[in-house]
Amino acid sequence: MRTELQKIEGEFTQRAATESDNDAKLHALARARFAEGGFGPQWNYHSMVFLKRQVISRILYQDMLYRQILDVPGVICEFGVHWGATMSLLVNLRGMYEPFNHSRRIVGFDTFSGFVDVDAKDGGFSNAGDYSTSQGYEAQLAELLSLHESFSPIPQIQKYELVKGDVSATLPDWLEKNPQAVVSMAIFDMDVFKPTRDALELVLPRLTRGSLLVFDELNCPHFPGETRALDEIVGLGNLRLRRFPHQPYCAWAVWGE
Ligand SMILES: C[S@@+](CC[C@H](N)C(=O)[O-])C[C@H]1O[C@@H](n2cnc3c(N)ncnc32)[C@H](O)[C@@H]1O
Repeated sequence: MRTELQKIEGEFTQRAATESDNDAKLHALARARFAEGGFGPQWNYHSMVFLKRQVISRILYQDMLYRQILDVPGVICEFGVHWGATMSLLVNLRGMYEPFNHSRRIVGFDTFSGFVDVDAKDGGFSNAGDYSTSQGYEAQLAELLSLHESFSPIPQIQKYELVKGDVSATLPDWLEKNPQAVVSMAIFDMDVFKPTRDALELVLPRLTRGSLLVFDELNCPHFPGETRALDEIVGLGNLRLRRFPHQPYCAWAVWGE
């Protein structure tokens, strides 16, 4: 049976009913296991039993991207952090691939209260407040990211930063305070037009040849604004966009290629 695009708790999904049912069963099993005490001292490792193919695909995708910037200096900027899944992953990938590169700061920009501006170019699916987190979540995320850093070398140097607020307002300020910052990878995952356009325009002068531009909703019918922002600022024909087999709407390009 076909399932229409739907929004659940402010997040879009195109899951089939069977997938939603099975996802709910997995969630119930996870809650039950943790309510019964979890898995013992290796709980984190054993928690892998709950990871779905879709999530494992995401890990493989981020791994593929990260390996491409190993010889490119600079920070990673993620525009659109949400609950911090990608940021946590990036912190851990840094710990694996370049444990001593404490110049690879990972900077996440988010309102933590969801979408701010929804433009006519966003196609009518999105609303202000979609993809919000719970009140004060950024403090919990900071604690989580510090813990992740603690499992890798040089934990005494904090190598992540969370910048709260509308990126159209916070990024100019951040760039001014960080005139040295080269951006080795810019991840655009705010889904909607205006902040994507503003962030892209502001970040371009900080890229070097070899930096990665990464888009999470390219060619995506329910989030047309991200593609339109790229087209407006760079021009679709001016990049060699690539895709990864497991991620339908993700695309990336090497700047200067
Ligand atoms: C799809 S989520 C990001 C998911 C995240 N990258 C991940 O991999 O889990 C989109 C995020 O963009 C953020 N966002 C949207 N518009 C924004 C704006 N104007 N300024 C800052 N963040 C914004 C939302 O708050 C939301 O958390």
